[in-house]
Formats: sequence, structure tokens, C-alpha cells
Amino acid sequence: MRIPNLFPRIGTPLTFTRNRLYPIDTPRRRLIAKCMPDHGEARAEARGHRLLRAWYPAPELHCRLRLPGHTVLVYERLPAGTDHGLLLDLLNTPDDGDHSALDAYMRHLTDTYLRVFTRTAKLSPPSALVGKLYRDRAAPGGRLDHYYAHHDIPLTAAADGARLSDLARTGLYVNGDHHRLDWAKTISWLRGAFHTPVWSAISQGDPTDVNLAVPLAWLDYGTAGRNAIAGEIANFMFSTAVLGGWLVPTLNPQAFTQHPATFDRLPENTPRISTRSSSGTPHIRFTDRLTRARRRALSRYWELLATPLAARYFPGDAFAEALRPYLAMRIIAVFDLAHMPLDMRLYLIAKLALCTAPDFSPARFFDLTEATCPTS
Ligand SMILES: Nc1ncnc2c1ncn2[C@@H]1O[C@H](COP(=O)(O)OP(=O)(O)O)[C@@H](O)[C@H]1O
Ligand SMILES: [Mg+2]
Repeated sequence: MRIPNLFPRIGTPLTFTRNRLYPIDTPRRRLIAKCMPDHGEARAEARGHRLLRAWYPAPELHCRLRLPGHTVLVYERLPAGTDHGLLLDLLNTPDDGDHSALDAYMRHLTDTYLRVFTRTAKLSPPSALVGKLYRDRAAPGGRLDHYYAHHDIPLTAAADGARLSDLARTGLYVNGDHHRLDWAKTISWLRGAFHTPVWSAISQGDPTDVNLAVPLAWLDYGTAGRNAIAGEIANFMFSTAVLGGWLVPTLNPQAFTQHPATFDRLPENTPRISTRSSSGTPHIRFTDRLTRARRRALSRYWELLATPLAARYFPGDAFAEALRPYLAMRIIAVFDLAHMPLDMRLYLIAKLALCTAPDFSPARFFDLTEATCPTS
């Protein structure tokens, strides 16, 4: 006779950020315990989870324990494993011509958003919104200051070469076109950009491909609550186009140990970049590259969600204007430009110049040409 093991089994922890997640199996339940060193963040996450779960599919939160040095949130564990369970894994699946799983997922995702946004959208003052990723990071003493206040970042490998502050004088060339980019003005624009009323809705706030589960569920509730609609869109788009397939796995590879296919796809998701300097002016050329799955996810999201939301809440040019500051914050306030290889830094600076240019077009920025927009 087999004696059932009545003690919980605790598996190897997963580490994505500074939180640790321990899979736990009890005879009745499959759980995951998220240990968070910051009690305030854990409180925000529990609050976000309560709000989000009323509107979106999300695993149950069974209990919250405050211990010295950590708060532990114990969630129902969804069936994730090596290279499966996240949108990331769907995006990493080699393209065999069958897009039905990704298309069905994107349809479900965008339908869910539209349903919730239609019911919860409001023009809200900044104080009603979650501040973590944008307002707080741009505020004095926030992440922008932490990264950049005392650091005029070099734009060449030479110690005496051009620096960020020189761009106000020289501008830069991106794929052959000259752009102005005044770094100090950009920072002060961002400081003020999150202080006016905006269209908002209840959302998870950080919909990256590692925070979206398959079958559809939202994970990670630190920014869940009332968020800017434009911020939610900018976040998904930039994460799918740049962060998820290239920047994050390159700069934070340990977060992907359970998703090794991410590294197989890395070459296909790495832009081609070449840079040179002429009379102190940087010249940056890049060609974005993305797997067909990532392109397809972007164009489905754009067609099924961003376009109808833009028509409803941001008529005319208002949508590009609304996206700009959120996109700029994803470009410079996720990773510190100082702590990355030079060509990656210059690529992001080129993207910042495109996003702040007078003729900024989100469709061009994300390379959403008609040929990539699916018809079905
Ligand atoms: N309820 C869950 N069930 C299964 N896996 C989960 C669950 N919650 C989180 N995970 C896994 O852990 C990863 C990190 O969780 P997340 O809550 O996003 O932590 P962090 O705040 O560190 O980003 C997720 O990308 C997912 O792979
Ligand atoms: Mg996360």
C-alpha cells in the first residue's frame, strides 16, 4: 500500500525580478508562493489582484502572510512548465504556418480587454491611476533621476566622445534622417507628462509576455488597478516588439531558465544595428527583426484592440500623442541606458528620437505595414 505524502512539497524557486516564486504541491492543491521582500509592493499586489480578478481571468489568491523581511502571497498555480504556460512560449513556438493557437489567444485577449474597457473606461485625474511605471518613475527622486540625474551617458566607446547632453546641439541621424533630441527637455517633458486627466480603465498595467498566461490569464498584480489606456497599449506593443524577445533575455537571462526557447529565438528577434560618429554627431542605422509570431501578435493586437480604442477615445492625432510619453518611459525607464552594450543604448536612443519626433507614427514605429496585417 502506498502511503500518501501529506506534507507539502516545495519545488525549486523561480526568480524573475527580486521576488522568488516557490511551486508548492499539497495533496489537494498546486500552489505557487510569491515571496516579496517589499511589504508595500506586496500590499499593492494583493489590492491589485482583488480589483483585477473582478474583471479578468486570474488565479485565486489563497492567502497572504507577513513575515519578517518578506510578505508571501500564495496563489493557485496555473499549469506552466518548461516552454509552456505563457504568451512568451506561444511567441517562441517555431512557425510551421499554423497560426490558429496564437490567433485564438489574441482574439480572446483583445475581446476581454474590449469588454472590460467598455465598462470601466473613464477620463480620470492622475491621482486615480496606478503611478508605479510612469508617474512615480518620472517624478523627482524616481527612477529617471536614479538612472540619469548624475550621469551624462557616453554615446561612443571613447571616454572623450559625445554624450547624451551633446545631442541638444548636434542632434542625431537615424536611418539617414536627422532628428533633434534634447535630453534635458525630454526629461522635463516626461516629468510633466503624467499630471493631466487621461482615459483610463481597469487593467493589469504591465501586460508583458511573461505576465500573460496561456490559457488566458493575467499574472503579476503590482500595477493592477486603474491605468491609462494608452499606457496599457504602449506597454504591450513595446514589450512584444523589443523587450520580450531581445532586450530582457539579453540583459536578464536568468529570468528565462524555464523558457529556454527564448534563447533559440533571440537571433531572429535581434535588430541589426550599425553606428558611427561623424564630426561628433551619432549616425545610427537599424533594421528591426522579429519572429513571424511576434509580428502577428502585434498586428492582431493593433487591429483588434488598439485601432478600435483609438477610434473611441483618441480621435485624429490624439492617439499618437497619447502613446508618446508611455512609450518613451518604456524606452528609457525600464533599463538604465548606462548599463547595456553601446549599440543597444544607441538603438534605444534612436527609438526615443523617433517617438518624440514631430511626425511620430505608431504604425511606422512598430513597422505595422499593411502586408503584416492579417486579413482574417
Ligand atoms: N499563479 C501562477 N501559476 C503559475 N506560474 C506563475 C504564477 N504566478 C507567477 N507564475 C510564474 O512566475 C513568473 C513570475 O511571476 P510574477 O508574478 O510576474 O513575478 P514578478 O513580480 O517577479 O515579475 C511568471 O512569469 C510565471 O512564469
Ligand atoms: Mg512579472
